[in-house]
Amino acid sequence: MASTRDTRSTASVVHTSFKTTSPVGLRHDILPMRLYHKAKRLGVWDPRSIDFTQDILDWQRCTQIEKESLISTTALFVSGEESVTLDLLPLMMAVAREGRIEEEMFLTTFLWEEAKHTEFFRRFLDEVAHDSSDLTRYHGPSYHKLFYEELPKTMYTLLEDSSPRAQVIASVTYNMIVEGVLAETGYHGYFNMLDRGNIMPGLKQGLGYLKRDESRHIAYGVFLISRLVGTRCITLAYC
Ligand SMILES: [Fe+2]
Ligand SMILES: [Fe+2]
Repeated sequence: MASTRDTRSTASVVHTSFKTTSPVGLRHDILPMRLYHKAKRLGVWDPRSIDFTQDILDWQRCTQIEKESLISTTALFVSGEESVTLDLLPLMMAVAREGRIEEEMFLTTFLWEEAKHTEFFRRFLDEVAHDSSDLTRYHGPSYHKLFYEELPKTMYTLLEDSSPRAQVIASVTYNMIVEGVLAETGYHGYFNMLDRGNIMPGLKQGLGYLKRDESRHIAYGVFLISRLVGTRCITLAYC
């Protein structure tokens, strides 16, 4: 269903109908709802319940170079997760304004999961690495460009311009580049490195959950971009 709201301006937003009291009801067959139901089953892990006992012992046996490698990698992941937690809300607002209740329901699980990913990596730094130093020294120029500038810029643009074109740009940046290219490959490589060394079982367990969550996020991004490109006339040459 298209918009169920008057979105001419923020002050004039009113609901003109509700899906749940219409003959249509909730669409359980569309991908966002299937992902929502999946997230309720698979996304309920608690970062605080992961056992880091063996990780702490493994950490004590690591060389300085190995510790540096683990901290520098975690420093990229933890603020990346913080960034996607901070920057998702404008997309949720854009989807909500269009009355897409099923997509918003999925996005509530999405945001909650990003918050847990942030908590998980920070817990590793606090309880295993015991590192409370300023870790921004590991954020190079490319990292700055993407996570400090481009990601928030493309996402927060949606507060002013939630056109299909702006949503595609935001989703390509967030779901395709940050999640699909960087997180997917980064977590895969990190997991395999720990697996080969047979170390950090708690960190590995969390990464396993995290990868599963991210696959749902990326699937939603593919759905969103396909919907936007398929139903609207968008000039994709936006770069
Ligand atoms: Fe995440
Ligand atoms: Fe994600």
